[in-house]
Amino acid sequence: MPRSDHVDAKREARMRERMAMAYWLTEAWYCALYSDLLVEEGLQARTLLDQPMVLWRDTKGAVHAMEDRCPHRYAPLSLGKQVGDNIRCGYHGLEFDGSGMCVRNPHGGGQIPRSAALRTYPACERGGIVWVWMGRGEPTFETIPDLSIFEEGSPYQLGQPGWLSLDVPFDLMIDNLMDLSHAALLHENILGNEQSIAGETRFREENGLVYAQRLMPNIDPPEYFDLIYLNDGAKIDMWHDIHWQAPASLLLDIGSTHPGGTKDEGTSVLAQHIITPVTETSCMYHFMSARRNPPKRGEAEDAQIQARLFELRKMAFAEQDAPMIAAQYATIKRHGSYRPVALASIDKAVVLWRRRHEAALAAETAARAA
Ligand code: FES
Ligand SMILES: [Fe+2]
Repeated sequence: MPRSDHVDAKREARMRERMAMAYWLTEAWYCALYSDLLVEEGLQARTLLDQPMVLWRDTKGAVHAMEDRCPHRYAPLSLGKQVGDNIRCGYHGLEFDGSGMCVRNPHGGGQIPRSAALRTYPACERGGIVWVWMGRGEPTFETIPDLSIFEEGSPYQLGQPGWLSLDVPFDLMIDNLMDLSHAALLHENILGNEQSIAGETRFREENGLVYAQRLMPNIDPPEYFDLIYLNDGAKIDMWHDIHWQAPASLLLDIGSTHPGGTKDEGTSVLAQHIITPVTETSCMYHFMSARRNPPKRGEAEDAQIQARLFELRKMAFAEQDAPMIAAQYATIKRHGSYRPVALASIDKAVVLWRRRHEAALAAETAARAA
């Protein structure tokens, strides 16, 4: 075997080994989709942690999540339809209720095979999102992030929520968000600039959350931070604060104030980012935003600024973050292993969230073995 092939084979084996390891927390709630999709669009198919499921809302308004596999010949039930509170398979018509039991066989004498039952998942709605409990243990509701500031009635100015499917592993998305020093380079002149590289990041862990708070004092304002604040090009103190909550939710608070000013004297955009692993190599990304203390402006100017902010956010993510993370992932795959060199001044939050995640994974593995 030529040496390069030999090296590639070894790398591939290592990669397979890494992939075979537990990779995501199972005893946790994950975001499946926005609640309103179950009102407007009926049955929904989603894959969470490599488990395809069908989601629906029954006639009493309760949400259900069930394995998306008819036990007869494995047709996805999401290709069927809702009949009352049940799901009818679109292939031969077996019907299942919200407990996963087959309740109707339209063929022959209508006998129901005892093995025709499916796994269901606890599901609930919080903050406009349908959450699914992926564990086998008792769900613990307090681990669902508090999204009240993004709901109707919030004192903040709400932005349009959205979501995307991405062909990158969920952990690379979290790394991207937990190290916001990249804004200076990757989002130059939009969310950061040469002067913001010099910012200082403080890290802390509290009640299981990992915080990174980055302050960039007295800098020329990148476009986004000028627009949300005074829109006059004058110097600002800028901050990028974020915290991670297990398994994969991040709350971002980015803002501007006058040099030497307090955050309350300035303004900020709060953004919730919720990542859901789909497979080992893909994830869903849900995001919502709210503006705190936006400066008072005329309606026309405000609309113009809001439109430009939306455009900049979209550009930063779709044209800068997403291609960079995809290219990073392609390089990781080619290389066959991922052992990043950590930079102490910016990477601590990445190290900390990964450490907590790995400890929780180890605890889950130990609990399963016990
Ligand atoms: S595959 Fe569903 S009823 Fe046949
Ligand atoms: Fe980014």
